[in-house]
Amino acid sequence: MESPKTDKKKIAFSGIQATGSVHIGNYLGAIKNWVDMQEAHRCIYSIVDMHAITVRQDPKALRENTLRAYALGIACGIDPEKSIFFIQSHVHTHAELTWVLNCFTPYGELGRMTQFKDKSQTNADNINAGLFDYPVLMASDILLYQAALVPVGADQKQHIELTRNTAIRFNSVYGNVFEIPEPLIPETGARVMSLQDPTKKMSKSDDNPKSCVALLDSRDAIIKKFRSAVTDSEAEVVMREGKDGINNLITIYGLMTGRSVAETEAEFGGRGYGDFKTAVGEAVADKLRPIQEKFDDLMKDKGYVESCYRKNADRALQFSGRTLEKVYKKVGFLAR
Ligand code: TRP
Repeated sequence: MESPKTDKKKIAFSGIQATGSVHIGNYLGAIKNWVDMQEAHRCIYSIVDMHAITVRQDPKALRENTLRAYALGIACGIDPEKSIFFIQSHVHTHAELTWVLNCFTPYGELGRMTQFKDKSQTNADNINAGLFDYPVLMASDILLYQAALVPVGADQKQHIELTRNTAIRFNSVYGNVFEIPEPLIPETGARVMSLQDPTKKMSKSDDNPKSCVALLDSRDAIIKKFRSAVTDSEAEVVMREGKDGINNLITIYGLMTGRSVAETEAEFGGRGYGDFKTAVGEAVADKLRPIQEKFDDLMKDKGYVESCYRKNADRALQFSGRTLEKVYKKVGFLAR
């Protein structure tokens, strides 16, 4: 029986939204870390479709994107036997714990979330209660699994802080029900910037498609995008303040090939930017090829993918059900 604390490994939980195509920034900044963490941690990962509907979604596209993101996660190396990898809406404990935690989260604290304030501006015609409550659903995701670590981007730090506050508040009333989680935020080196404006984070919603490389882009498209990457007017491949474009390319090259900054600088010393950009494009395409092949195989074998997410939903439910049961008992719900 899977339970929150069967072995000594620390539990890590993270979630990703699947509202469009996954890009190399998501891969290098999040998914690759998730894959690498599977050895030393007990990992639980989720495609958070319930978070996705806080902004209006086309149902058919959401369904397709969810399936594709799940398959892509496996293709990238998330192991659905070793880790628990599930789709959020398949596991009803998440919505249930959210209700209870809503009653332990102050309105004022939710109103201070910068992501809520930003999204209220970009979705001014649909500022719904779910958008406001988004961090409580996220807290439930994490707390249900007694996670000690939450690998996330820096933009999610405030939500983890709220999760901790809510858990501490609940524990102070009812005893130690929840583990208090810590965020695990990658150093700035792992932040992948736009290829067209290297002062901005790479984003799938960028207007210029050349700024962003999707994991499923063709080899040709990848190399073309890197060849047209914005750099500077010098000709030296070195990591240095003010060379945002080159710094970004050195970072990407390093993360994709395992080369250190010094190795990259030595390899391309005295050669022009053209050579370097092509080499980065080729390295990225080489690294992505096996992921793309695995993804194509999985999409041809949907029965297998379905069997994975079904089994993993059962595992997640069993695991999270114990926490929810404890919470229900503590708050005084009569056992049925
Ligand atoms: N809000 C996170 C993001 O946009 C996604 C997410 C949902 C998440 N639930 C989570 C991340 C739980 C970590 C843990 O990136």
